[in-house]
Amino acid sequence: MTSHTGEFSQAETRYTEVLRRQRDSATLRRIYRDAYGADYPEEIDPFGFVTRTDLRRIADLVGLRPGQRLADIGCGRGGPGLWVAGELDVSLVGVDVVAAAVAEAAERSAELGRARARFAVGSFTATGLPAASCDAVMSVDALWMVWDKPAAMTEVARVLTLGGRFVFTTWEPAYLDHRALLAEAGLDVLVREETPDWLSRQLAVYRGILAHRRQLAEEMGQTAAAVLIAEARETRPVLPSTPRLLIAARRRPAR
Ligand SMILES: C[S@@+](CC[C@H](N)C(=O)[O-])C[C@H]1O[C@@H](n2cnc3c(N)ncnc32)[C@H](O)[C@@H]1O
Repeated sequence: MTSHTGEFSQAETRYTEVLRRQRDSATLRRIYRDAYGADYPEEIDPFGFVTRTDLRRIADLVGLRPGQRLADIGCGRGGPGLWVAGELDVSLVGVDVVAAAVAEAAERSAELGRARARFAVGSFTATGLPAASCDAVMSVDALWMVWDKPAAMTEVARVLTLGGRFVFTTWEPAYLDHRALLAEAGLDVLVREETPDWLSRQLAVYRGILAHRRQLAEEMGQTAAAVLIAEARETRPVLPSTPRLLIAARRRPAR
């Protein structure tokens, strides 16, 4: 999961067809289940590599009390944000660039009876959220896709209350220093850790995708399957030098 040339598109909206068709693929769910075992949070049907362990860690680190306000940026079909918001009894706003994913997230939150969740189309660099309207921001496996990361950090700092936390997972290639980017935007890193067993599990998912190309295309359509297959092929070689990190940072309080 890093910058590449080749078949693997660089567009921030490149997962549109995957997100639109994901629920149709029992094979994709089985690939994740086989790779992650009991740590796979199947009930929230995430798209990415989030585990139950990650979700618990995010819930611990956002530092929220019941009734406070959480945003999930790059929320996809909503699962991770809904899980954390439900666990902590906080309100949720989810933002993603893919309209179809946002619509499905809203449907799922209604099914789960989460009245205090809403979802909107927006970007990491222009969320559409008011200034200082979030007590914490979370993001799962989305920031790596964003072209203008300094602008994304500035936007997160803008929507956070002073002292509010930004907790996220992403991949860190050698040329990218998230700590410095966060500091520049007024966010101080509290925790920076590799997520448990990320490499072996992610490689197992990619092996599964390549081994089940035909079934994935049958269930999700050629376009969605091609996106998954290109990523699995092109990401594998660089993955060992691109750790998956969980980072928690705090909006610097006013002096
Ligand atoms: C790997 S998926 C993770 C989705 C979700 N967080 C999950 O774990 O199920 C990455 C998500 O980031 C979204 N994304 C990509 N670029 C974005 C941007 N600039 N702003 C907001 N979301 C973005 C994608 O549309 C996609 O839903």
